[in-house]
Amino acid sequence: MGIMLDQLESLRLSLLKAVSDAASMGELEEIETKFLGRKGELTAILRQLGTIPVEERKVVGSRANEVKMEGEAAIADRRQVFATSAHAEIADTDWADVTEPGVRPPKGHLHPVSQAIREITKIFDHVGFSRVRHPEVDWDWFAFESLNMPKEHPARDEWETFFVDAPETKQGRMVLTPHTSNSQVRELLLGELPIRMINIAKCYRRQIDVTHVPVFHQFEGLYVDKDVSITHLRGVLDYFAKSYFGPDRVTRLRPHHFRFTEPSFEIDVSCGVCGGTGLLNGAKCRTCKRGWLELGGAGMVHPNVLKAGGVDPKVYSGFAFGWGIERTASMKSGTKLDDIRILYKNDIRFLEQF
Ligand code: DAH
Repeated sequence: MGIMLDQLESLRLSLLKAVSDAASMGELEEIETKFLGRKGELTAILRQLGTIPVEERKVVGSRANEVKMEGEAAIADRRQVFATSAHAEIADTDWADVTEPGVRPPKGHLHPVSQAIREITKIFDHVGFSRVRHPEVDWDWFAFESLNMPKEHPARDEWETFFVDAPETKQGRMVLTPHTSNSQVRELLLGELPIRMINIAKCYRRQIDVTHVPVFHQFEGLYVDKDVSITHLRGVLDYFAKSYFGPDRVTRLRPHHFRFTEPSFEIDVSCGVCGGTGLLNGAKCRTCKRGWLELGGAGMVHPNVLKAGGVDPKVYSGFAFGWGIERTASMKSGTKLDDIRILYKNDIRFLEQF
């Protein structure tokens, strides 16, 4: 027994010395295996247990256990020392100041046309015009016929229409809506009067040049109730011009002709650059025509249109208007776009300015 206890003591001493001399985690690992591993020195000593009397085995066994625990504790302590200094090294070389402001990811914004759509929607919402949706691919009947434009009527020529290659029905051929006015009769047919709607949608015309894109947007207003007059139209137009363009802007109605309104007007808004005078520093204002900018069409809904929508023109009357969003938006920002197509070229240098 004495020999084995001596062996254990010398193992203990060499183990502790080796641990305190170890210079790295790796060395510690080797030491652990060498002394305490399954095929290590401690196991080798314990293998001799069978050669000594039973009552002595207990003493040697428990001493071996103590040595093992002491060795393991020493190794764990030394590991801790290495780990701490490794952390310290990382902290010295690879640190982050968590109080430093972060790097903001680049943030975009809505396209100027989307901005205009949102703003216009809000302005009309304040006076009870709800935004509605109607098809952007529709039957000839809604785009023309029901708007008092029979099949062969020359007025149709103004709307350079794309026809869809689809079978003709009782409502005629299918078209890509060349204006948002198809929503008028569609809304009337819903039969919920009075109507105060704003329909903002894509329109398509076979035109492309510096002032036209083949896909553009319009917003269409329709107000139908009993006793609606031009005064109401005026009021709404002025309200819109002041809300959208600024409080000092005014509108004027110019006689015009549309098949679906009677009387019909072209709406102008006073020029924001020359203040409606047409003169800037003694010279002609280059933004407008004699102080006015053309906004778009409007008028009192034609009785035939009301009839097509199942509404009795003797009881009800209404007004409508329809303008291009791209045009209205560029009039607001005062940007003279040499070429309107730039709006849709996705050139970030242009878009970032809005
Ligand atoms: N739809 C017409 C166009 O595209 C614009 C228009 C004129 C709409 C008069 C209207 C209106 O609602 O009353 O040119």
